[in-house]
Amino acid sequence: MHLLALGIGLGAAYARARALKGTLDDAGFRRVFLTDALWGLAGFLWIATGLIRAFSSIEKGTEFYLTTGLFHAKLGLVGLILALEVWPMVVLIGWRKKLAKGGSPDTSAARALARISHAQAGIVVVIVCLATAIARGMWR
Ligand code: HEM
Repeated sequence: MHLLALGIGLGAAYARARALKGTLDDAGFRRVFLTDALWGLAGFLWIATGLIRAFSSIEKGTEFYLTTGLFHAKLGLVGLILALEVWPMVVLIGWRKKLAKGGSPDTSAARALARISHAQAGIVVVIVCLATAIARGMWR
């Protein structure tokens, strides 16, 4: 499930960026909301399965991860992705509410949100490199 989240999440972050850069008509908004929901699903899967992997006995054990600097770096980058997500989350909730009331949302932030999605996809790639190093016990 942790790796499945990678397939879903990396694709969703890239697709959300593309959708945000595209025309924001009815179909465009549907694309943004669908890719946003998939990105959210990946985030949930990453954190839920990651916590189980880190803090149960199915992997290397809690002691290993708590004393591994690379793991702290990995969690720091996950935290950065979450911090970057605050503004897109607030804006997209606003868009959903406006559309539900039959209005047309102010989409002036769309390009900036697309750049954030691209940055998040880039951070995911860095996290995969760290995760692989951790899995192989490199540079603790
Ligand atoms: C963007 C978020 C994340 C990505 C892209 C990611 C990616 C990965 C990948 C690719 C692996 C497999 C490495 C391998 O076996 O070669 C892995 C393993 C693991 N991940 Fe994550 N992960 C993420 C978030 C998290 C979080 C939030 C946690 C914990 C709270 C976590 C804990 C773990 C643990 C414990 C392992 C096993 C490492 C080992 O084999 O020793 N991950 N992750």
